[in-house]
Amino acid sequence: ERRSDIRNVAIIAHVDHGKTTLVDALLKQSHVFRDNEQVGELVLDSNPLEREKGITIVAKNAAIEHRGVRINIIDTPGHADFGGEVERVLNMADGCLLVVDAAEGPMPQTRFVLRKALELGLYPIVVINKIDRPNARPAEVLELTSDLILELATQEHQLDFPVIYASARDGYAGTSPDVRGGDMAPLFAAILERVPGPECDPGAPFRMLVTTLLYDSYRGRIAVGRIRDGAVRPRMAIQRFAHDGGRGSFRVGQVFGFRGLDRVELEEALAGDIVAVTGVPDVLIGETLADPSVTEPLPSIALEPPAVKMTFRVNDSPFAGREGQFVTSRQLRERLLREVETNIALRVEDGETPDQFIVSGRGELHLAILVETMRREGYEFAVTRPEVILRDGPNGREEPFERLLIEAPESATGFLIEALSGRKAQMVGMHSGEDGRVRFEFDIPTRGLIGFRDVFITGTGGEGIMNTEYLGYRPWAGEIGRHRSGALVASETGTALAYGIAAAQERGILFISPGDEVYTGMVVGLHARDNDLDVNVCRAKHLTNIRSSTADIAVKLVPPQPPSLEQALTLITADEMVEVTPRSIRIRKAELN
Ligand code: GTP
Repeated sequence: ERRSDIRNVAIIAHVDHGKTTLVDALLKQSHVFRDNEQVGELVLDSNPLEREKGITIVAKNAAIEHRGVRINIIDTPGHADFGGEVERVLNMADGCLLVVDAAEGPMPQTRFVLRKALELGLYPIVVINKIDRPNARPAEVLELTSDLILELATQEHQLDFPVIYASARDGYAGTSPDVRGGDMAPLFAAILERVPGPECDPGAPFRMLVTTLLYDSYRGRIAVGRIRDGAVRPRMAIQRFAHDGGRGSFRVGQVFGFRGLDRVELEEALAGDIVAVTGVPDVLIGETLADPSVTEPLPSIALEPPAVKMTFRVNDSPFAGREGQFVTSRQLRERLLREVETNIALRVEDGETPDQFIVSGRGELHLAILVETMRREGYEFAVTRPEVILRDGPNGREEPFERLLIEAPESATGFLIEALSGRKAQMVGMHSGEDGRVRFEFDIPTRGLIGFRDVFITGTGGEGIMNTEYLGYRPWAGEIGRHRSGALVASETGTALAYGIAAAQERGILFISPGDEVYTGMVVGLHARDNDLDVNVCRAKHLTNIRSSTADIAVKLVPPQPPSLEQALTLITADEMVEVTPRSIRIRKAELN
């Protein structure tokens, strides 16, 4: 039996193709808001980091009412998958809107999420957005998008998808590329017609898979998910099927539904509804909440284990900036523990001393996003170089591997193959397009990816796109040399610093401080040898030659180019660490432990 009063739809789009504007237009034209009610800011867009990194990090929900049908719009994370999050979120939906810019066409980053959506059997609707753009080329974009769906579809019904042309900015949509005006009704109609209502068995006992957690200091953890069977009501007795096999009895606190972007309290919610439930304090993502009579939990989507770890510690350096609002170990610890409440693939353990915490996550980017978020919140601390988490398999040491998907200009081929072979990557696919771009697939140890993103961006002149998917543990791939593309090779430290300076030099901005003296200037020449590094710095109008032991040199990138954490992480060697403050990122020799 399927419900006719609900549609659950995931929205998939490349950054800037107009996802937020589209949801905003749908909200404005639905009956969720009265005419005099203000529709929020471009609403899904709450994380400034997402825009900068070109990825969507967190998933959010919005509910829109149209002709008596509630359409739940489920935002999907972009290409960065932190522990099966994409699948869990898509699992709530029966259909998906693939939003594609009418001028730019489909982008490789959306491929990953689209593939997962089609694997789960979702019904796609293609929305060719920004049809108003003077350089829109809807026919070509449709062809490219159709090719993509054709390639990734797993079920017959997915090949017969509706196409809607829209200008989210101007609030209209239509079935012809010539549409110029009207409203979003054709898109609403496509959703109602094409996406099946959720399957439900209202007579069955209540079961819900927890997909996301919200956190509220008053209510604690709030479990969000789609009700699979039965109904849930406030104060109802339920049980929790925990990941560790344990089962516990609880009483539901409140049940919330979504209205627009707000949560509204409900007296009852039924199978097919997406709800937020309070009352189960330690619930985790992927667990099942159910009626006490239920004996089997719902199938959980496997959580990928953390692959990379990093030590976070109080910055006790005498040169510490002391510019952060939060600097103590207690503040650091509380913030990290709060993060674990909702950032499911993250683990936090105590380190060897009370001012250290070992934080493990899905990958370098996952951790880098956390560091950057905390920095922007006013935290000041230090982190060590990211390291992969190894394990002992039946045949010896094993390490995590990823599938690396790259799209880049053909001219970058040589650079990429060289940079990646040095990082123990194995090419598993290569395809040259007619557009002068080449697509690669590599299998690479997660270790080889550490610091690669920054090298990649520089090496492809910002024209490349990379994406990774977790493959699992495989035998240790052997030592990775410290050769870095473009690096000067000297001692361990010399290499890293020289490379760092070279990278900084390209950007034309640098601080160098031998000892604790700080010189501001531009590097005009450098030479690394053994433990020494000669750096020619043009400072004001003078050329200063600093010859120094590398151990005394700190590199600090300063605005106008905002310091990049990933870049700093690329540069540090095992015995250095990155000091993170709200205003700067710098590298320093560390006496760890
Ligand atoms: P993220 O939230 O960062 O993932 O981006 P998004 O996909 O939500 O894009 P967003 O809605 O923020 O739109 C990106 C830019 O495109 C904004 O400047 C919008 O004003 C613009 N835009 C969105 N829809 C349209 C449209 O239909 N026509 C035109 N011309 N511009 C649009």
